[in-house]
Amino acid sequence: MTQYEAIGRRHSVRRFQMTAIDPHIMKQINCFIQTLAPLHPQAAYRIAVVEAYNTQKHVFKGMFLAQAPYYLVLSAKDHPFAAVNAGYVMEQLVLYLVSKGFATCYLGDAKSKPDLDQYQPMIVVAFGKAAATAVKKPASRKKLTELVNQPPVAQQNARKIIEAARIAPSAFNLQPWRFMPQDGKIHVFMKKESLMQTKRMKELTLLDMGIAMCHMALAAEELWLDWRLSREDTSNEPIWKGCQYVATLYYEIKSF
Ligand SMILES: Cc1cc2nc3c(=O)[nH]c(=O)nc-3n(C[C@H](O)[C@H](O)[C@H](O)COP(=O)(O)O)c2cc1C
Repeated sequence: MTQYEAIGRRHSVRRFQMTAIDPHIMKQINCFIQTLAPLHPQAAYRIAVVEAYNTQKHVFKGMFLAQAPYYLVLSAKDHPFAAVNAGYVMEQLVLYLVSKGFATCYLGDAKSKPDLDQYQPMIVVAFGKAAATAVKKPASRKKLTELVNQPPVAQQNARKIIEAARIAPSAFNLQPWRFMPQDGKIHVFMKKESLMQTKRMKELTLLDMGIAMCHMALAAEELWLDWRLSREDTSNEPIWKGCQYVATLYYEIKSF
């Protein structure tokens, strides 16, 4: 299974077998972590694998936790794009794990100790083999027509790229992403939430946006497109009432 195929297969799993992973496979996971492609290379981050298969104690504090044999903890330095970047790289790893037969679940409220330098914990993901009793039903998603500024999306490439983002996981399944497809590009927006949102909720929403953009990038790659994710110049930023502009995916057919 490829990472792109894993997009359609993954769902959150909250019950795990508390068993150790073969050291050879663990080595492959650690090697894969070294190959992750960031969205913003200046946004410094690191990922630690925490082993917990031999403990019954909770490794993290917080709500909505899942007890798992392993956790990925992504910490990042303070940067305007730290959260978007965290979602973008963590989702590559989640899809890699799913493609290798592992189950995963983001834990947005898991609180881990800050590192002793400038790296702050950003997101935790539980992973391991799914328990036989694990629920295997994916949560529902908004329809494509609710997510684009002017349906229908006629262009097949744009449709496939947006579809990959549409089914991405998000905190509380809020699906904050919105899309404005134009010729050869898709502007990505984030739905503005109420003023009541906490700092952490805002951070999780940005993380969701990074996850969705990871799915878009993998879909563009699958379609053999030349693509890049960046932002329009400030003077040229697209506008969508009630939404915040995040980035644009530019794509064109590869020339050989
Ligand atoms: C950033 C983020 C944080 C999340 N936090 C939690 C969490 O704390 N606990 C939990 O059980 N699920 C959590 N989830 C999983 C979502 O609830 C789940 O992705 C969403 O409901 C869609 O379901 P699916 O992943 O099965 O497709 C989180 C997901 C994301 C992307």
